[in-house]
Amino acid sequence: MSHTGALGVFDSGLGGLTVVRALRALLPSERIVYLGDTARVPYGTKGAATVVKYALGCTRHLVRRGVKTVVVACNTVSAVAPDRLRVEFDLPILGVIEPGARAAVRASRTGRIGVLATAATIASGAYPRAIAQESTRAEVTAMAAPLLVPLAEEGWIDGDVPRLAVRRYLGPLTRAAVDVVVLGCTHYPLFRPILESEVARDVVLVDSAEATAHEVREFLIERGLEHPGTALGGLELLVTDVPRTFEEMARRFLGGELPDVEQVDL
Ligand code: DGL
Repeated sequence: MSHTGALGVFDSGLGGLTVVRALRALLPSERIVYLGDTARVPYGTKGAATVVKYALGCTRHLVRRGVKTVVVACNTVSAVAPDRLRVEFDLPILGVIEPGARAAVRASRTGRIGVLATAATIASGAYPRAIAQESTRAEVTAMAAPLLVPLAEEGWIDGDVPRLAVRRYLGPLTRAAVDVVVLGCTHYPLFRPILESEVARDVVLVDSAEATAHEVREFLIERGLEHPGTALGGLELLVTDVPRTFEEMARRFLGGELPDVEQVDL
C-alpha cells in the first residue's frame, strides 16, 4: 500500500464532511476521496443489517479507487459495521467511535459521560462498550437525538426549534450530572453553539470528528503511510445522488469552497 495513495472517507451522506474538515486541518497534504451515500441517507434510522450492507458497498467502491486506508466518518456505520468490513477488506479501516470514547474518558473528571447519537448508534451500545474498554469506572448516559439530523440538513442550526430539541435531548444527561457530552453523530458539531449554551459551563463537548482526525494522523505516522509531500492534497467528492440543496448543505458541513462533485453508482 503506497503512502502517496488517497485516504478514503465515507459517510451516509454529507455530514461526514465534518470529519473531512477536521482531517484536512491536521493532514493538509493527504489527498482525500470522500463518498457520501446521499441516495440512501439517513442510516441512523435503519437496522444494523441494512447499514452493514450499505457500508460494504461504500467500502468496496473506495477500495476499487485504490485508497490506502478507509476512514468511516459515519458514527452509525462505525457502531455496527467495522468488524465485518475488516473481515471483508484487506486494508486499514478506522472508525469514529473509539477515538470519541478515548477523548471522552480523557476529558472526564467524574467518569459520568453523556453520549448523543442516532437511534441506530444508541441501540448498538457501541459507545458505552468503547468507553468501558477505556475506563471501568465510567458511567454512560446515552440518548438518541434523531431530530438533529434533519434539522442540520435543513440548515436549522440556530433559533428556537433546534434549541428546544437540544434541550430535550440533553435532559437525561443533565440529570445524570455528566461532565462530558460526546457528539456521536456527524451532524451534531453544527449545533455546538447551542449545545454549549445549554450545558453547564464546566461540561466538555467532545467532537468525535476531531478526535478521529488526531488518531488517523497518529495511525498514518506509525504505519509510515503519511503522505510525504507538502503540497495541498485535494479533495474528490463522490455522491450517490445530487440532492437539490447539495451545494448549500455540503458547504455547511465542509466549510469553504467545494470541489467538483461526481455522481457514482454503488
Ligand atoms: N452520519 C450519521 C452518523 O454519524 C448521521 C446521519 C444518518 O443518520 O445517516 O451517525
